[in-house]
Amino acid sequence: MMIGRNDPCWCGSDKKWKHCHYPQTESIHPTDSQALRELYLREYHIIIKTEKQIAGIKRACELTSEIVDKTCAMAKEGVTTQELNDFAHKLHLDAGAIPAPLNYGSPPFPRSICTSLNEVICHGIPGPTKLKNGDILNIDASCLLNGYIGDCSRMVMIGDVSEEKKLVVDVAYECLMRSIAILKPGVFVYEIGDVIEDYAQSKGCSVVNQFVGHGVGVEFHEGPQVPHHRNQIKIPLVPGMTFTIEPMINAGGREAVIDSHDKWTARTRDGSPSAQWEHTILITETGHKVLTPWIRGQA
Ligand code: MF3
Ligand code: CO
Repeated sequence: MMIGRNDPCWCGSDKKWKHCHYPQTESIHPTDSQALRELYLREYHIIIKTEKQIAGIKRACELTSEIVDKTCAMAKEGVTTQELNDFAHKLHLDAGAIPAPLNYGSPPFPRSICTSLNEVICHGIPGPTKLKNGDILNIDASCLLNGYIGDCSRMVMIGDVSEEKKLVVDVAYECLMRSIAILKPGVFVYEIGDVIEDYAQSKGCSVVNQFVGHGVGVEFHEGPQVPHHRNQIKIPLVPGMTFTIEPMINAGGREAVIDSHDKWTARTRDGSPSAQWEHTILITETGHKVLTPWIRGQA
């Protein structure tokens, strides 16, 4: 999901986000759960989920994670990203699910998963490119199952990968897992960006700030936006929130350039490698639960 403080606000006001619903700081003192639900929806476009919704989202997340794992297992030298797409597409249909990326947005995203290779930061479009020795690849799937959505992605390394590529793959993974570790009710959204940016900087990498994590579950992209870079979004996490964290980490500079022809593929401006891992997470009464159960294997 794309952001910018200067982009139009999600509420449809035609005002810039920063002049409209950009979260400021008001501390929130909800008196009951229904009041909290209404407040979060009104102020932040955040859908606090019911138990029934959580059960549906959990199933969608499990399927998404399984599709990502199975598709990653197919990613070998000589295989095209189109073949990975077609394989993943069929897994969705076989499970009675719809791939949420297909026809999403404007111009409509033309494939069922995103495949982002090497210097591609995110939203890579599957096509005739064959995987080759030394590539790093992110596979990102989002499944709509029985009206609920899960979203996750992971990296695969093909053959012998350079030290620079290994570094971004490792740093992006650590950024994701370290930021998940702090999640519990009362933590502010901006604390996620602090953890990620501190760690990436300590390893000499940069954090992409043109794309963000997002609320997910009932809609593909709900509030809040979850920046991976340092930010000031002072929204307290509350139980029943479901959102992604999907840090995009570059070995060089953070700037992303969107392909002028396909309007989707985001690449590093300097051509340096980029890596991303993504989970969907639920905030619980006592902490958090990762809903997309992939576990990092060989990559
Ligand atoms: N995890 C990505 C996101 O949340 C999935 C993008 S699918 C696309 O933006 F269709 F938007 F490309
Ligand atoms: Co996402």
